[in-house]
Amino acid sequence: MTAAETERGWILGVGIAVLDIVNLVDAYPREDDEVRALSQRTVRGGNVSNTLSVLRQFGHRCDWIGTLADDAGAALIADDLDRRGIGRGFAVTLPGTRTPTSYITLSRATGSRTIVHYRDLPELTAGDFAAVSLEGCEWVHFEGRDPAETARMIEQVRRVRPGLPISVEIEKPRPQIERLLDGAAVLIFSRAFACASGHGDPLGFLREYAARCAADLCILPWGAQGAYALARGAEPVFSPAHALPAPVDTLAAGDVFNAAAIDALLRGLGVADMLLHANRIAGHKCGREGLDGLAESARDAGLL
Ligand code: FRU
Repeated sequence: MTAAETERGWILGVGIAVLDIVNLVDAYPREDDEVRALSQRTVRGGNVSNTLSVLRQFGHRCDWIGTLADDAGAALIADDLDRRGIGRGFAVTLPGTRTPTSYITLSRATGSRTIVHYRDLPELTAGDFAAVSLEGCEWVHFEGRDPAETARMIEQVRRVRPGLPISVEIEKPRPQIERLLDGAAVLIFSRAFACASGHGDPLGFLREYAARCAADLCILPWGAQGAYALARGAEPVFSPAHALPAPVDTLAAGDVFNAAAIDALLRGLGVADMLLHANRIAGHKCGREGLDGLAESARDAGLL
């Protein structure tokens, strides 16, 4: 049965879509080396857009909103979204612009991915977002980017559809990122963000940030160790990472974790089960290349 035949709740994802040019190499090169890649793939990337690829595989109706350039890269992104059944009717095309690119070196030795990202494409504005009808929407997930604009979009959602669950990924320290701490039901932080804010201790970070925000749930994936979460008024929960023989491809593992966390919360799972599900799917992803067929292979592996 296809995802469309069993379509579940409608999720709107707000973020960037980029072109990922992924070079697989034997081992990560030294500076000034010249190496030959073992293979190359060019795929649609971007955190929220990757997250939607997985949510779609879980059977959700998904729409993406962000900006698109009007070049060949944008055509590839649009075709890929269409092929996967991810709606792009709300996306805004900006004439005379170029698609953002990520040149990614994926190491076969470790599965690590090193990303050099370039963009000069303007990002979605709250004015663009205001045109979206949220009627029937069950979840809105934001990439925590331009904080001033994103905070206005979150306010819009709360005004138009109070009670509609909102999640925000807080991945990188950015000026005024704190503006995104209010308004979301679920905040998903990154380990890099926690470390950049001076916390090598995940529980200390979660306690501090949970006290500073109004979210019902703060989630903090912690790499190969596992993930933590803290729900309002409850004790923190830790769930160890899914055991893997050797990582093959860690590109977008965090985006997959976010998808599985949202999927679990939409299914009404508790915090511990949500973390277990997110760790399993993200861990399983690290054992295989790319995002294609992820849910099916997780199902075959008895993880779904
Ligand atoms: C992976 C990813 C890539 C993209 C980059 C953007 O998480 O979304 O697909 O190129 O990060 O920062």
